Amino acid sequence: MGTVVEATNQGENGNVTEQKPTVVFVLGGPGSGKGTQCANIVENFGYTHLSAGDLLRAEIKSGSENGTMIQNMIKEGKIVPSEVTIKLLQKAMQESGNDKFLIDGFPRNEENRAAFEEVTKIEPAFVLYFDCPDEEMERRLLNRNQGREDDNIETIRKRFKVFMDSSLPVINYYDAKGKVRKIEAARPINEVFESVKAIFSTKNEKAD
Ligand code: ADP
Ligand code: C5P
Ligand code: MG
Repeated sequence: MGTVVEATNQGENGNVTEQKPTVVFVLGGPGSGKGTQCANIVENFGYTHLSAGDLLRAEIKSGSENGTMIQNMIKEGKIVPSEVTIKLLQKAMQESGNDKFLIDGFPRNEENRAAFEEVTKIEPAFVLYFDCPDEEMERRLLNRNQGREDDNIETIRKRFKVFMDSSLPVINYYDAKGKVRKIEAARPINEVFESVKAIFSTKNEKAD
């Protein structure tokens, strides 16, 4: 018992065991700048960055038995079953040796959210939400040039719809709990980071 991602503050007998890690969920539409800003946060605030999308793409490359299923879902902009994504996140958290995580692009829907909470018992310290108009995100994705199979106009439109239908409700869920820190993301990278820094420099950074 007591791996970093199953950690509880109290054991069954009520004894204090170990501290839960600090988790910040980083959400926003495709191309809103999550990965870009996470790299800056890592440099300045000592977090480990875990992008769910990056972990899923690495899983495809590794030749895992789930690879073909994941590849097909990403091509269609669909959300991979939580079981798969959460296992990858847990493994990456355990291997990092850190206790502060930026979980980027997760939870993407209600199933992701509820399953993560159920499996890990971790509540995010807060949710960083990059708010960006579709036209700007579309421009960025079409210029991203990372050879991604989902950065084409047809898949991009599907991803925007999935974001509206499935991901925004998760942001609204956390907003109702007072956990959302919204950032205007359609500004130059350094200006966006000034707003991000202000959030990580205050008491917001603390768990709870
Ligand atoms: P996400 O992880 O949210 O999908 P990325 O961080 O990969 O987004 O950014 C998408 C693309 O837009 C990348 O090519 C990145 O360099 C660029 N980009 C990120 N932030 C900005 C910004 N504030 N202004 C202009 N381009 C940006
Ligand atoms: O966040 P990113 O843009 O890298 O995600 C790319 C794709 O990975 C998503 O469109 C989706 O198909 C898949 N994904 C997922 N579940 C997540 C995060 C990403 O299925 N929680
Ligand atoms: Mg990204």
